[in-house]
Amino acid sequence: MKKHIFSLMLVAAAAMVACSDAPHLSLQEQEAYKFADNLIEKMTLREKIGQLQQFTTRTAAITGPDGVKRDTEACIRNGEVGSFLSIRKTEEMLRLQKIAVEESRLGIPLIFGYDIIHGCRTTFPENLAVSCTWDIEAIEHSARIAAIETAAAGIHWTFSPMCDISADPRWGRVSEGAGEDPYLGSKISAAMVRGYQGEDLSADNTIAACIKHFAAYGAGQAGRDYHTVDMSEMMFRDRFLPPYRSAVESGAVTAMSSFNDFMGIPASGSKWLLHTLLREELGFTGFVVSDYNAVHEMVRHATAADGKDAACQAMNAHLNMDMVYGDYLKYGEELVKEGKVSEKRINQLCREVLAVKYRLGLFDDPYKYGRQNHDEVMYRPDNLQFAREVAAKSMVLLSNNGVLPLKEGVKIALIGPLADAPRDQIGAWPGWGQAEHSVTIRKGLEQRFGAKNVIYAKGSDFRAPIKGGIDDAVRAARKADVVLLSIGLSYTESGEATSLTEITVPEAQQALLDAVKRTGKKVVVLLGTGRAMDVRNEIEKADAVLVTWHGGTMEGPAVADLVSGDKNPSGHLTMSFPYCVGQVPVHYNNKITGRPRKGPEHDKKYLSRYMYTPNEPLFAFGYGLSYTEFEYSDLQVLTPEVSLGGVVKVSVKVKNVGKRDGEDVAQLYVRDLVAETTRPMRELKGFERLSLKAGEEKVVEFEIPTSDLAYCHRDLTTYTDAGDFLVWAGADSDAKLEGKFTIK
Ligand code: BGC
Repeated sequence: MKKHIFSLMLVAAAAMVACSDAPHLSLQEQEAYKFADNLIEKMTLREKIGQLQQFTTRTAAITGPDGVKRDTEACIRNGEVGSFLSIRKTEEMLRLQKIAVEESRLGIPLIFGYDIIHGCRTTFPENLAVSCTWDIEAIEHSARIAAIETAAAGIHWTFSPMCDISADPRWGRVSEGAGEDPYLGSKISAAMVRGYQGEDLSADNTIAACIKHFAAYGAGQAGRDYHTVDMSEMMFRDRFLPPYRSAVESGAVTAMSSFNDFMGIPASGSKWLLHTLLREELGFTGFVVSDYNAVHEMVRHATAADGKDAACQAMNAHLNMDMVYGDYLKYGEELVKEGKVSEKRINQLCREVLAVKYRLGLFDDPYKYGRQNHDEVMYRPDNLQFAREVAAKSMVLLSNNGVLPLKEGVKIALIGPLADAPRDQIGAWPGWGQAEHSVTIRKGLEQRFGAKNVIYAKGSDFRAPIKGGIDDAVRAARKADVVLLSIGLSYTESGEATSLTEITVPEAQQALLDAVKRTGKKVVVLLGTGRAMDVRNEIEKADAVLVTWHGGTMEGPAVADLVSGDKNPSGHLTMSFPYCVGQVPVHYNNKITGRPRKGPEHDKKYLSRYMYTPNEPLFAFGYGLSYTEFEYSDLQVLTPEVSLGGVVKVSVKVKNVGKRDGEDVAQLYVRDLVAETTRPMRELKGFERLSLKAGEEKVVEFEIPTSDLAYCHRDLTTYTDAGDFLVWAGADSDAKLEGKFTIK
């Protein structure tokens, strides 16, 4: 029988309702609530409801349907709006702020939000790519740079990090997340919150983070965006909740409710999600904004009769701010007058919004964001250099028969729709990134290898051939020593509302691959994508495949760094690349079944398997090659027996046995051998990025607090059991070196 000592269920935290004298609140929070409470006393009901309404403007970026046209300035003057999103001009934000401060009755400042997802002006690779660096410090720093530029732009608040775990590459929004693993996802969401919010939220270069999309938006059925999410609470708690939780623990001051319904209830009307779980259990003390129109969409979900009913449900579920549609403003007063929503509830929702504005320092100086000199802050050379390093670290080498790195003096035919595609490389949600600042692959290679050594031909559009394209491509290939074929998906096939049922390189581009292959030249595929793909065709035909993603402003130089061998590839997949789309969702941390398939020799009936297809993805979570080789040996469990509450220590030797210096990501996986509920075959519980010179050896020591082995039990509480565990260490989720430890 296993013992239960460590409970992550903060049951005692049930008392954690947001009240100014609650002991769990920090001094800053208490001060902010006190300020808000005093202000609320002076506010009319309509003004309080106004703080709960977020609108967009006529000139703002459009990120959803039905952008309602309103008289923006009148709304501000009347105190009928608390926030705007997606305004693209600093001067416009400062102008609207001035109206709020000088012309509304109480002068309450507005809070401006924007989707700064992977960089503001200096654009980093899409988030899935950045997660493949496994470099938590670099991820935090990239969010810091984004925050500095965002604050200078005049924006106070980013709708990031996206904490949605997903193992379904049909869903286009996997590009915005950190992949399939909750442990890595948690480290990344926490790092991003730290990067955005810094040490002092009131500084003029830190911004509010937003935990989204709460909850489980990445688990929509069949990879279709906005689709139904239904799963057991155990599964939710173990695999989906951790990155949201860690973002809360890092102090994120806002969160966003998701579009999807969750176990039968639209997230924006789910009191269990937004109040019981998020606030009472996880201890979130900030405010929740709905996703775009998500309050009103409860009418379309057919769980609310009309907009008024939707607003009523959302307010009572503890959703503070209505993004765009306007049901809060339209019906809020009526709902209070009719007793359907209490004024006390409105006060609570309002105070949480005002407290965040206060903590950002907006009541002290409403204009401090946006005053900075843009020329000094945006696209700083050191930040561009950093973006180049992050892009290079994010790229994953899937195969290489020795063609890479290229030899000096080589003549390159650079072909494909992504080779010179400034807009595509900054990806979905490019923030304030400008395509004209992108350094494309073509440019990067010309700078590195000399313009005369790079022969460029577009060859094809993304999904349609171009006239004479193949002929141009073949001519270019014939003149060159090697072909770099930059193919994949466009930026319009990444991010929101971009679900696909085919995740192969589109046919027009496959024709290009076939044509250049027929020239007999060596072919390196540079795969640009925001999602995992079925790459069987490219792996079979190309001499090397490097996943370059949508690599951000500095993608071009980063590609040049890698193909030239100036840098060694070191990215490792954070999302399995499936063998074929029929396998998805596919992920390494599958649960153990009653009829597991042990290997090909067991490939017979009555096992959990496909008839003609492997169970395994083509490239598993954690996988990534380099130009050198790393050998893992001598796994030692330094603490074969550990008491509950202690720390398990495991070491492994890693040696660079190749001829080049390089970096690798050492990974540690565990399996709970017998548990109260079914457990994954393996779960990531530690990793370390390390840099090794040729011939150098290091011992990596992993420390796993036993609390990290907690899981959700039959009674839905989460804690760690005593018992036996297997542990593996290596360079991917297939790691073979094995050990064992016991928790007593
Ligand atoms: C997206 C969010 C985004 C919001 C505001 C929605 O459509 O789902 O992720 O933050 O728009 O632009």
